[in-house]
Amino acid sequence: MSVLTKHAILEKNATLLLIGSFLVVTIGGIVEIAPLFYLENTIEKVEGVRPYTPLELAGRDIYIREGCYVCHSQMIRPMRDEVERYGHYSLAAESMYDHPFQWGSKRTGPDLARVGGRYSDAWHVDHLTDPQSVVPESVMPKYGFLSHRDLEPRHIADSLWAQSVVGVPYTSEMIALARADFEAQADPDADTDGLLARYPDATVSNFDGQPGVTEMDALIAYLQVLGTMVDFSTFTPDASR
Ligand code: HEC
Repeated sequence: MSVLTKHAILEKNATLLLIGSFLVVTIGGIVEIAPLFYLENTIEKVEGVRPYTPLELAGRDIYIREGCYVCHSQMIRPMRDEVERYGHYSLAAESMYDHPFQWGSKRTGPDLARVGGRYSDAWHVDHLTDPQSVVPESVMPKYGFLSHRDLEPRHIADSLWAQSVVGVPYTSEMIALARADFEAQADPDADTDGLLARYPDATVSNFDGQPGVTEMDALIAYLQVLGTMVDFSTFTPDASR
C-alpha cells in the first residue's frame, strides 16, 4: 500500500481526519509560539525612542478619536517604492510605546509614519482646517473645529498612568508633572528644562499660533514627532538578530 492509498483511510473517516488535523495544527502552533517565551526581547531597542510627552499623547488620543487611522497608515514597509517615497522603513521599536499601535490598514491618504518635521506647524493648521486650500484634489475632511476646542488636561496624569500599566516606562515623576509638562510644551515662553530632561528633543512650540492649549496644538505636536525619534544618519540595524 502506497502512502497515497493509506491517506485514503484518513480522508474517508471524519473523526480520524479531525484528530489528524488537530495534531498538525498543534505542532505548527507550538513551533511558532514556544520560542517567543524564551526570547528575552522581540523588539530591538533603538536609541532615541522615548515615550510620548503628555501633549503628544493627548494629540494621539485625538488622532484616534477622529479616525485619522482609517485613511492613514503609520508603517513604511521595507520596499523600495515606499522607502523612496516616505523615508527609512519603520522599525518595530518606533511603535513600541504605541498602545494601541497606529499602523493602520488603509491608505486613502499618504503614510504618516515620518511626517514629523516635513511641514511647518502653520502648514498643518492650514491643511487640517481646509485640506483643499493646500491640495485642491484632496478628499480629506476639514478639522478646523479643533482650533476652537480648548484642551483641558484634566485626565492627562491618568492617561500616562494607564500607559504605564501596559508597559510604557512613565515614571511617577513624569505622571506627577504631566499637567505642567503638557502646558509647557505648547508655550515657547515657559521654563522647559524639566520637560526636555524628561522627554529629550521634544519640540516646544505654540503649534496652532493662538493663546491657550487647543486640540489643534496637541494634534500637531503629535504629528510633528512622528518618525523623528530615531536618527537615521547614525542608525545601523543589529545584524545578529
Ligand atoms: C477620508 C480620508 C482621510 C481622513 C479621515 C484623514 N485624512 Fe489626512 N489625508 C487624506 C488624503 C487623501 C491626503 C492627501 C491629500 C492632502 O494632502 O490633503 C491626506 C493628507 C494628510 C497629511 C499630509 C501628508 C503628507 O505627507 O503630505 C496629513 C499630515 C494628514 N493628512 C493628517 C490627517 C489627520 C491628522 C487626520 C485626522 C484628524 C486625517 N489626516 C484624516 C485623507 C484623509
